[in-house]
Amino acid sequence: MSSIFVFDAYGTLFDVHAAIGRFRAEAGPDADRMSDIWRTKQLEYTWTLTLAGHYVEFWTLTERALDYALARVPSVPKSLKAGLLDAYFKLDAFPDARAALKSLKAAGHRTGILSNGSPKMLQGAVDNAGIGGDLDGVLSVDVLKMFKPRPEVYALVTKHYTCKPGDVTFVSSNRWDVMAAVSVGFHALWVNRSKMPDEYLDFAPERTLSDLTSLTA
Ligand code: LAC
Repeated sequence: MSSIFVFDAYGTLFDVHAAIGRFRAEAGPDADRMSDIWRTKQLEYTWTLTLAGHYVEFWTLTERALDYALARVPSVPKSLKAGLLDAYFKLDAFPDARAALKSLKAAGHRTGILSNGSPKMLQGAVDNAGIGGDLDGVLSVDVLKMFKPRPEVYALVTKHYTCKPGDVTFVSSNRWDVMAAVSVGFHALWVNRSKMPDEYLDFAPERTLSDLTSLTA
């Protein structure tokens, strides 16, 4: 396996549903549905804007997606908005992600993040999780003003590490992100935490992991 490990951020290293987790009691029984709609809309906005040739940074899209989700699920109090956004800025890292980064670094590999997140929000999440010391690069799509899965985004990795696509192992919990990574010639691993059915069968990952524990096992 290659020695450059690059991770997707949201959903892969950082738990996007940790924000609602901090407000579960106040949010009520529809909390998870609201959080799912929040995430789905956030991604949809990145795809539709990119297809139409526009760019609005990820933090703004995250806020707009939350406004939409709160409007769709009125049982979740709108007064939670500010707290949810603040929690999203400081998302928890999955414990297995933290451990995987540490052991990859200890084994002498290079590591990094490639994310739709704006530089400021990625810095907020990395600092809050305390994983900055285990990362050799935090790459944001913001320099290109276009979102994943545009191939130009994945080329940021080979540019940053001055390497070939085949030197990179890309790790993502988003199956569509894995599809794009395979399509540009990366080795790709799919972290299927929520046991979703496989898709994009023409662009298969080299391995599917249930979490990041087995990455370095
Ligand atoms: C990211 C989104 C896809 O971090 O989760 O790029």
